[in-house]
Amino acid sequence: MFTGRGVCIIFITFIWFLFYHLPAPPSTQNNTRADRPPPKHQVEDTARFIYRSPFRNNPDIQYEKQLSNALEEFEKAVLSQSQESNISGDRIWQIAKDEEHRGDDSREFEQKNNEWEYTLVTDKKAIEFVTNELSAIPEIAIVYKSYPHNVLRADLLRYILLWYYGGFYADIDIFPAQSIKTCAALEPFFPPTTNKHTKSTLPNVSLVVGIEVDEPYASSQFMRDWHWTRSYGLIQYTMYAPRRFSPLLRETIVRVLAHTRQYNNGHIGLFPSLMYDEKTILGVTGPDVFTDAILDTLSSSLPSTHPLIQQSVDADADISDLISPVTAELHKRVTWAPFHRLSDPVCIQAGEAIPDESMGGLCVLPISVWGNGQRHSQAGGFNHPNACVNHRFGRTWKKGWWEYIFG
Ligand SMILES: *[C@@H]1O[C@H](CO)[C@@H](O)[C@H](O)[C@H]1NC(C)=O
Ligand SMILES: *[C@@H]1O[C@H](CO)[C@@H](O)[C@H](O)[C@H]1NC(C)=O
Ligand SMILES: *[C@@H]1O[C@H](CO)[C@@H](O)[C@H](O)[C@H]1NC(C)=O
Repeated sequence: MFTGRGVCIIFITFIWFLFYHLPAPPSTQNNTRADRPPPKHQVEDTARFIYRSPFRNNPDIQYEKQLSNALEEFEKAVLSQSQESNISGDRIWQIAKDEEHRGDDSREFEQKNNEWEYTLVTDKKAIEFVTNELSAIPEIAIVYKSYPHNVLRADLLRYILLWYYGGFYADIDIFPAQSIKTCAALEPFFPPTTNKHTKSTLPNVSLVVGIEVDEPYASSQFMRDWHWTRSYGLIQYTMYAPRRFSPLLRETIVRVLAHTRQYNNGHIGLFPSLMYDEKTILGVTGPDVFTDAILDTLSSSLPSTHPLIQQSVDADADISDLISPVTAELHKRVTWAPFHRLSDPVCIQAGEAIPDESMGGLCVLPISVWGNGQRHSQAGGFNHPNACVNHRFGRTWKKGWWEYIFG
C-alpha cells in the first residue's frame, strides 16, 4: 500500500517532528566532558583577528541609523521622565518559558545573590515588556513576535532587558560558582563599603562581557570540529550592565533588527520553522552579531591613537587583514588581538571615546571568569580560582537531542 514516495513523506514528517516538537533534553547536573583534557587541535601559523559578517556586506545603513536614533530619543525621554541617573539597580534577569522550566541551577543563582532583585522573564512577561514598556519602538515587538524559534527570541530579549533596565543576565543553566558581588573580577563594581569609595570611583562603563572562544590560530578543520563560524567571540549567556542604555547594547539591538529584516527579505515564502540554520542564528541574534557590534562600536568611537587600536594594528603587521585589497590603505580599527589570551580584565572607560561618539565604556573579563570548563581557548576548569559562574550546559540548542542520544 505504501508507495516509496509515501514512505519518504512519512519519514520526512517524522524527522521534522523530531526536530521541532521534542521537548528540550533533560538538563545535566554535571558537565562530565568539560574538565577532560582538550582534543588534538590543528593550528595555523597566522592568526585571524577580524571577521566580517555576511550581513555587513550590504547593510541598510539608513534603516539602522533611523532605528538607532529612535532608540536614543527613547532613552532620553525615559531618563528625563524619571529624573534618574542611568546607574542600574541590582537586578538579575533570567529567561524561561515559565516557572516550571527553571532548574536547580537557576534557584541556586537566585539564592546565592539574594540581595539582588530577581526576575524570571517568562514568555508572558516578555510579550508584555516588548508591547508595553517598549511601545515607543514598535519594531521590537513586531520582530520579537515574528521569530519562529525560542533561541532567537531569547537572544533579542536579553539585549533589550539589559539595555532598558541594566543589571545582570544569566541563562538558566548557569551555576553560581561565586556570588556576583564576591566575584573577584567584578570587585571594582562592588567596592567594600568600609572603604570610602563613592560612586565616582566606580568604573565608568555600561557593559561587562566575558570571552567564549579565543582560538584565533584555529585551522578550518579545528573550527569545523567545534561547529564554529568564528575563531573568537564574546559570551552572551552571561552579561552585566552596570548602567542602563548601554550604547553597545543599543548597537547590538539595531543590528539584530536590521539583520532579521535583511534575512527575512531574502527568504520570503519559505516555511518559517525551516528557516534560520545555526550559522544564520549566530549572525542574526547570537554571539557573532553581539561580538561584531561591540568591536565595531569600539572602532568607530575610540581615537586612532587609542592603545586598543594600536595593539590591533601592530598585531596585523604580518597578517595584513586590515589592508584594503583595493586601495592598499590601512584601516585602523579594533580587532580581537587586544583580547587574545587576556589574563586580567580590560576596561575602556566611557570618557576614552572621542567626543560625540559615546560607547558607554566596556570591561572584558578573561575567559576563566565566565567561560571556564571548556576544552579550548585555554579556559580553566570549573574550579579555576577566577571562575565566577559555570556554564554547565554540556549541550545546547545546537546539539540538543543528538548529543543526548549519541553522546
Ligand atoms: C556533581 O559534581 C559534584 C562535585 O563536583 C558532586 O558532589 C556531585 O555528586 C555530582 N553530581 C552528579 C549528579 O554527578
Ligand atoms: C562617564 O563618562 C562620561 C563620558 O565621558 C561622562 O559624561 C560622565 O560624566 C562620566 N560619569 C562619571 C560618573 O564619571
Ligand atoms: C550614562 O552613563 C554613561 C556611561 O556609561 C555616560 O557616558 C552618560 O553620560 C550617562 N548618561 C546620563 C544621562 O546619565
